[in-house]
Amino acid sequence: SIFENAKKGSIAVAQQIANVIKDKQAKGEKCVLGLATGSSPRDVYAELVKLHKNEGLSFKNVITFNLDEYYPMDENSVNSYRRFMREALFNHVDIDADNCHVPDGSLDKDKIQEYCTAYESKIEKLGGIDLQLLGIGSNGHIGFNESGSLQNSKTRLVALDYSTRLAASKDFGGLSNTPKTAITLGVKKIMEAKEVILLAWGEGKSAIINKAVEGTVTNQVPASFLQEHNNVTFVVDREASSRL
Ligand code: GLP
Repeated sequence: SIFENAKKGSIAVAQQIANVIKDKQAKGEKCVLGLATGSSPRDVYAELVKLHKNEGLSFKNVITFNLDEYYPMDENSVNSYRRFMREALFNHVDIDADNCHVPDGSLDKDKIQEYCTAYESKIEKLGGIDLQLLGIGSNGHIGFNESGSLQNSKTRLVALDYSTRLAASKDFGGLSNTPKTAITLGVKKIMEAKEVILLAWGEGKSAIINKAVEGTVTNQVPASFLQEHNNVTFVVDREASSRL
């Protein structure tokens, strides 16, 4: 879907998420959301907060799993994705804190693999992700599944690409302070989500959106795997769609 601007696209996506939450509520079921960080989903979260405050949208039945977290990362650090999510969404709605999952960037290295397996098991026990929200890196990464990630990759510790670290370095006050690794949900769990919405705004994303949507399906561009998903929407603004 192409929207005139990011604001309008974000309002539509928030509405769509609200509808999934309400459908599940009506059936007395839990709603499992896969959530993303970065600048792209910011307005979607702001709109969801508005729907909570103005229209009484409840998150009591919502369980969230974030895609990724830097490693190493203390959850209270200014750059942690846990903190980002608290400030953008969790602190402003009636979601149960125990239902908000963000990968833990503070574990000892030898505990990570076990932790990642348990993270996936929790998702599986709930019946999988109902709706997965994604951004896209300028190199085509989804979550922190960088170029070369396999379609069946699991949740794991990954090395970040130089381009990813460079993009993040402004938040960390320089490349030397920017983490070199991260924990990310694998491509497999993303592909198993019942519905996927990928957001991209601005001219800077137009080249990679073209590759992801119209290019060959390749592990060089992990977002291109989504072409094989049966319920995916790329939600873009005019600028990001300009090379389609
Ligand atoms: C980071 C995140 C990704 C996100 C990407 C794009 O690398 N781990 O999940 O999609 O940035 O960020 P932005 O939305 O700020 O362009």
